[in-house]
Amino acid sequence: MLTIRSLGHACYTLSDGTHTVIFDPWLTGNPEAACSPGDVRVDAVLPSHGHSDHLGDAIEISKRLNVPIIAVYELTMYCQRHGAPVAPMHIGGAHDFPFGRVKLTPAWHGSSVVGDDLIEYTGMPCGFVVTMDGRNVYYAGDTALFSDMKLIGELDPLEVAILPIGDNFTMGMKDAAKAAEFLQAKAVIPTHWSAFDVIKCDPEDYAALIEPLGIKCVILRPGEEAQF
Ligand code: NI
Ligand code: MN
Repeated sequence: MLTIRSLGHACYTLSDGTHTVIFDPWLTGNPEAACSPGDVRVDAVLPSHGHSDHLGDAIEISKRLNVPIIAVYELTMYCQRHGAPVAPMHIGGAHDFPFGRVKLTPAWHGSSVVGDDLIEYTGMPCGFVVTMDGRNVYYAGDTALFSDMKLIGELDPLEVAILPIGDNFTMGMKDAAKAAEFLQAKAVIPTHWSAFDVIKCDPEDYAALIEPLGIKCVILRPGEEAQF
């Protein structure tokens, strides 16, 4: 059994009861964070890209627990320079870790760390297919709709997909409904819909789009979890 818990915005933990990984651990400064970075206990940290609402507290968590940041090469080099242990990968590649398998998928977005007087490029943004307990979970990251999502679900049949729906920076609901259709996941968790005014929307409206397609919509508010 897999447990997915929302920690607010695009931050989720995925656990098989023995091992846990965390996606996009933005907790410090996140208006809806369900815990603080010091509460996090995980085996690996998976940031999808360098934007602050995704990379978040990744470096601090990774250093404190001495667990790897798994990401694209350029982003891992940034994290390594700041003292974090890393496992560099890149789009299309998969690797078996002690907790399970991670495959990096494409995402149509940007990736950088924006400082006061510098924008530092951190490689391509990505999504992740994580296989734990024999089941595949797709975390899309921030992305537009793309038709190759069909291949992601075809190659690794998906138990659940975590898809952004908030529009403006990522897919909106209509495109995310097409994404759900392409992916053929048994269930979809909508994400990236609440932390900023410009992306605020009602995930129940998204449920109404995908449930007629036979895809279960699992809405998780910060601190809520679901079993798959
Ligand atoms: Ni982003
Ligand atoms: Mn974002």
